[in-house]
Amino acid sequence: MTDTTPAYTGPQRVFSGIQPTGSLHLGNYLGALKKFADLQAEGHDCVFCVVDLHAITMPVERGALIDQTRQIAAAFMAAGVDPAKSVIFAQSSVLAHVELAWIFNCVARMGWVERMTQFKDKAGKDAERASVGLFTYPVLQAADILAYKATHVPVGEDQKQHLELSRDIAERFNREYGVPGFFPLPEPMIKGPGARIMSLKDGTKKMSKSDPSDLSRISLVDDADAISKKIRKATTDTGVIPATAEELKGRPEVENLVGIFAALSGRSVESVLAEFEGKGFGVFKPALAEVTVAHLAPITARYRDILADPAGIDRVLADGAGRANAIAAPIMDEVRRVVGFWRP
Ligand code: AMP
Ligand code: TRP
Repeated sequence: MTDTTPAYTGPQRVFSGIQPTGSLHLGNYLGALKKFADLQAEGHDCVFCVVDLHAITMPVERGALIDQTRQIAAAFMAAGVDPAKSVIFAQSSVLAHVELAWIFNCVARMGWVERMTQFKDKAGKDAERASVGLFTYPVLQAADILAYKATHVPVGEDQKQHLELSRDIAERFNREYGVPGFFPLPEPMIKGPGARIMSLKDGTKKMSKSDPSDLSRISLVDDADAISKKIRKATTDTGVIPATAEELKGRPEVENLVGIFAALSGRSVESVLAEFEGKGFGVFKPALAEVTVAHLAPITARYRDILADPAGIDRVLADGAGRANAIAAPIMDEVRRVVGFWRP
């Protein structure tokens, strides 16, 4: 059956968000931050959000949220997002997110949300004790995106399922309310060698803020010595670097390190393999450390400089809140009309 529903024809917009929890790592950088800067450089209309409402779905140390929010805003800028070109703001400062999330809670079906694997992972064995917010987390995420009618969402591989839910919610809203093409069906932008960076200690687990081992991840505040040490201690096997990407299958740690090399140097996996084919890790690891340090050092330095001026970050967030609200407010007016609420 061909879909004859008219598609969204409005302007294109990029939206993404990062939670203000824990310190950022190389996976966040390659899966998200670097893409943000690249998309801005390509001239897209971009909105980047520190998702503090999402952060409180899990316990947060009292009083820690403000500084953690500033840290993520600083990381956006350090990675190359320019607040003069893109909007940088905190989710809780634009009420549209909460209002649209409620409406979407009434659009999304229990069965759709129950399928989300991130809830199962985060809630663990005792799901009865998880917050209700953690359960509806992906519905709020759909509201984040669609309050701006964003069409493109740069994220890491782990967000694929949440983006599918956002599309389902947009599609059902358009259909149920008889407004074909009202919301765009947002496209995830996941491709590229950085989409799924794995732990340096276990190539089957993703690099994560919550891994108890600090050696498992390269943090965006690590200095050159720490980076080199972590790469030196990264788990590998006794083999050598193979000639083809095919031979990386079944060697997840090696595949991960080669992928990191490729992503940071802007080269293909094949070209990295061609350079190191037959070489051992005694040769490959120092070369990878060099590439990593060279790429991250300027970002880390900028990050520290920006963090040293919290008032400057606050000005960016205040300006961003105004600009984000200016985009979302007229969209929310339309949403209220479409849903059929009483309006003055
Ligand atoms: P989070 O820290 O979970 O809020 O994630 C922020 C962004 O980083 C999201 O777009 C994630 O998909 C992305 N991300 C997190 N961990 C990784 C990873 N290990 N590899 C690639 N992208 C990641
Ligand atoms: N759930 C995302 C993560 O854990 C963060 C997020 C919240 C997000 N809202 C978003 C990402 C909207 C993209 C678009 O990484």
